[in-house]
Amino acid sequence: MIVLGVESSCDETGLALYDTEHGLLAHALHSQIAMHQEYGGVVPELASRDHVRRALPLLQEVMQKSGKHKQDIDAIAYTQGPGLAGALLVGASFACGLGMALNKPVLGVHHLEGHLLSPLLATPAPAFPFIALLVSGGHTQLMRVDGVGQYQLLGETLDDAAGEAFDKSAKLLGLDYPGGPAISAMAERGQTGVHLFPRPMLHSKDFNFSFSGLKTAVLTVVKKSESPLSQTDKENIARGFVEAIVDVLVAKCVNAMKHTGLKRLVIAGGVGANRQLREALNAAASKKRFAVYYPELQFCTDNGAMIAFAGAMRLKNNPALATTDYGFNV
Ligand code: KG4
Ligand code: ZN
Repeated sequence: MIVLGVESSCDETGLALYDTEHGLLAHALHSQIAMHQEYGGVVPELASRDHVRRALPLLQEVMQKSGKHKQDIDAIAYTQGPGLAGALLVGASFACGLGMALNKPVLGVHHLEGHLLSPLLATPAPAFPFIALLVSGGHTQLMRVDGVGQYQLLGETLDDAAGEAFDKSAKLLGLDYPGGPAISAMAERGQTGVHLFPRPMLHSKDFNFSFSGLKTAVLTVVKKSESPLSQTDKENIARGFVEAIVDVLVAKCVNAMKHTGLKRLVIAGGVGANRQLREALNAAASKKRFAVYYPELQFCTDNGAMIAFAGAMRLKNNPALATTDYGFNV
């Protein structure tokens, strides 16, 4: 079965073809980051318009790369939500229009399920069951995953998501949107121990997170500075921030592994691309004797491959999920 995936929930238009027999056949992505950067964040109206512009050329690119014809597509999976309403509508309309034209069924996929299953596209893929840490721009969740569609939420952020904390703190240091990768690079050059930021909820007995206080702590240091921050000041603040957030994320993962007794930890979402987080998780995993799995770097942030894959997995379990009733809810 060949499934076309369409992702358009925020500022990336992603299309991909996944074959349940042969794996990922091709994928294509357009990131709108450069377009939104001058506004300091995503402008929803601009995002929607750009998805309209990009969808068809990306489809052509995917078809060409895969060597397949549109008639070879068995079903079309599109991101149903959560995300920006206008942006989601573009992907849903595109998928349904294409489905109608080709006489192929469509199905809506939950964006977070796409992220959650994305490490299964990598080699080696983790076997079920596993604990998943989903760390994206909009969500931070710890989950127990027993199979496709079998998800148990263990804990989540009570306020800001991890990616949001990265982006907001980066902005306070004068870095462009989205600041996650930039503040991480800046932290590499900073000195450890100069700023000891709070580790919110580190010792709470649950699996919840809270990151808004951490961002406020960064703001306080920035505001308190009497002269404009030097590059070294910024690097040291970045270092302190990254160390604090990584400490909390790793500690909660270790607790979840211990609590459930599972031996596989899976990381998903944009912050999963973070080098310091990966290093700290790898160290904890070898110390505590569990295995940790990541998506390929290119599939940490939003992409069409994860939607094609999640759609294909859903359909494998239940082909009746795909519909030729092209009404959609986003
Ligand atoms: O998963 P994603 O593409 O979007 C959502 O579904 O929200 O994640 C985007 C988030 C942004 O906040 C971005 O700053 C963060 O992931 N991110 C990173 C890194 N790469 C992306 N944060 C820290 N370090 C990175 N290397
Ligand atoms: Zn995402």
